[in-house]
Amino acid sequence: MEQPPRTPTLSRLFPPPREEAWSAEQAVERFAFGEPHRPASEHPHAPDPVTAPDPVTAPDPVAAPDPVAASDRVAASDRVARPRVALNMVSTVDGHATISGRSGPLGNEADHALFHALRAAVDGVLVGAGTARTERYGRMIRSGERRRRRVQRGLAAEPLACIVSSTLQLDPERIPLLAEPEARVAIVTPSDGTIADGGAAQVEYVRCARAGRLDLAGAVAALGERFGVRTLLCEGGPHLNGQLLVEGLIDELFLSLAPTLAGGDGAGEALGIVAGAAPARPAQMELAGVLEGGGQLFLHYRLREDDSLARP
Ligand SMILES: NC(=O)c1ccc[n+]([C@@H]2O[C@H](COP(=O)([O-])OP(=O)(O)OC[C@H]3O[C@@H](n4cnc5c(N)ncnc54)[C@H](OP(=O)(O)O)[C@@H]3O)[C@@H](O)[C@H]2O)c1
Repeated sequence: MEQPPRTPTLSRLFPPPREEAWSAEQAVERFAFGEPHRPASEHPHAPDPVTAPDPVTAPDPVAAPDPVAASDRVAASDRVARPRVALNMVSTVDGHATISGRSGPLGNEADHALFHALRAAVDGVLVGAGTARTERYGRMIRSGERRRRRVQRGLAAEPLACIVSSTLQLDPERIPLLAEPEARVAIVTPSDGTIADGGAAQVEYVRCARAGRLDLAGAVAALGERFGVRTLLCEGGPHLNGQLLVEGLIDELFLSLAPTLAGGDGAGEALGIVAGAAPARPAQMELAGVLEGGGQLFLHYRLREDDSLARP
């Protein structure tokens, strides 16, 4: 007889736990996209706060997640100047973002469950073309049930898939997402070109250039203005993350820490979760929560309010 799929559970370590185990969906409801950090009136570039419960003061998390909580949060951020941006990355404990060039070996079941639950909670997913090609990006939300639940919450059935590329070498053979007729894809590019074979996906272009290079801040704002994206989950890769960091566009970080020592510092094997030029000064984050599932640690950080206030 066919066994039902196992559902990994997650325990909260910080703030101090008040219950034993959450599903990934419950964790995202209680854990993600939470902290108001600056009124939009004071900061024209910062997103308006989203009104999720603070994990510290939230009601008993054992209770089933409120099915409308996420959509309420999103509705509350209707007035954002740009989407709220969160990175979601996985790393070994010694800081490697890949093993043999892929991130897949770093995640366990709980990591995969959280990865998909985070996707299910946002308006858009941002990814560099390098990652989309290497990881052979497919459909954003494969589960029909999960797509249906999003629609019930007033979200689009799937998040807008936003691929950043300048060469536009985006081929449905390498990126199966582009072959999905129901996929909505925004290609973020400084180029005037189009991709050679758009496949079956519904492709639009966000063209934002400054001095011939991508204007990443302008592009992120355009995703909000044109497509109504209020919450944007960036899934890497490290070079795209590095540019978001330099531009002061990272509001939150979900870091999944694998109990693995990869070692080695050879070319391509030393990629951390953020790569490229350093920002003028490091972004100061604060710890918002820690979960554990199957030996994997899940760290949630937010940009500190004083850091956010200091940015232009
Ligand atoms: N551990 C994790 O959580 C994690 C997550 C994601 C990825 N990864 C790993 O990271 C590796 C890929 O990361 P990566 O940092 O090399 O690549 P990446 O950031 O995913 O993609 C780089 C590519 O994105 C496009 N791009 C990025 N910034 C751009 C800009 N400002 N203007 C125009 N285009 C821009 C360019 O695409 P074009 O070449 O098309 O112009 C560029 O070559 C893979 O090995 C993947 O497995 C790990």
